[in-house]
Amino acid sequence: MILNASGCLDALTAPAVARKLDAYVVKTVTLEPRAGNPQPRLAETDFGMLNSIGLQNPGVERFCTEVLPRLEELGIPLWISVGGAEATEYAEVCARIGERATVHALELNLSCPNVDPAAEGAAEIVAAARAATEAPLYAKLSPLLPDVAGVAKSVLEAGATGLSLVNSLRGLALDEWTLEPRLGRGVGGYSGAALRPVALAAVFICYKATDGEVPIVGMGGVETGKHALDLIAAGASAVALGSILFRDPNAPERVRGELAEELSARGFKRPEEARGVAHRSQND
Ligand SMILES: Cc1cc2nc3c(=O)[nH]c(=O)nc-3n(C[C@H](O)[C@H](O)[C@H](O)COP(=O)(O)O)c2cc1C
Repeated sequence: MILNASGCLDALTAPAVARKLDAYVVKTVTLEPRAGNPQPRLAETDFGMLNSIGLQNPGVERFCTEVLPRLEELGIPLWISVGGAEATEYAEVCARIGERATVHALELNLSCPNVDPAAEGAAEIVAAARAATEAPLYAKLSPLLPDVAGVAKSVLEAGATGLSLVNSLRGLALDEWTLEPRLGRGVGGYSGAALRPVALAAVFICYKATDGEVPIVGMGGVETGKHALDLIAAGASAVALGSILFRDPNAPERVRGELAEELSARGFKRPEEARGVAHRSQND
């Protein structure tokens, strides 16, 4: 299953790209509208990109009346990313959106590096969201967590269906001459190639900690079918494409084709057969 990473594709301006995905993940929606962070909000670096969008979105009310109906017309399964400053905000957004037939899952963004963290911990937020909706809930975690396995277990105990791993790292780039931050907010989210080994490790650790029993969406620097296969081997059941979509709108189709070739070259008939194979020699 190939998805986009939240915030990395606008399906309304690029519907043909979105239709190549197995599901479209919407940019994070919050209870109230958010204007986002000061410009500039994007910067290229040697090994990836920095962003500080700051969860700009129209808020759940306008999202439901103006955006969601247009997304539903695309006829593809939708995943809605949900953010907030408190558990009650997450719960309210989930309650508003979760029961729509077109919404196949909610992804709780517990890890945006561009906004202040929510007051409550990840498990409390998941528990509040779980009480508000019966929709599948994916907890999206940060690569900066010192104990990602511990947090993964706690959100699953609190009612999460699966995990989305990982959000961006924190990064900074300075202007060559002024030596001031290139992003308006200063520090931003660091994504792309440099994130690949970090994402791979998070997926590997969480797959092991959960005995391979929960769905995991792997993301972070995926640019080719081999990168996708690596995440699947580490334990991902689905793969999301993020920064690559800014450079290559054909990536969903290309990566899907490359993944099929990489699988068959190794004798796998389906991606599921390759899931978790990185753990074969690791059994204690
Ligand atoms: C411009 C931009 C905007 C993003 N916005 C969101 C967002 O709204 N919600 C979210 O959960 N993650 C957001 N992310 C993080 C991505 O979904 C993804 O986790 C991260 O970029 C790692 O994948 P990549 O290395 O393939 O880009 C954003 C990333 C970028 C580059």
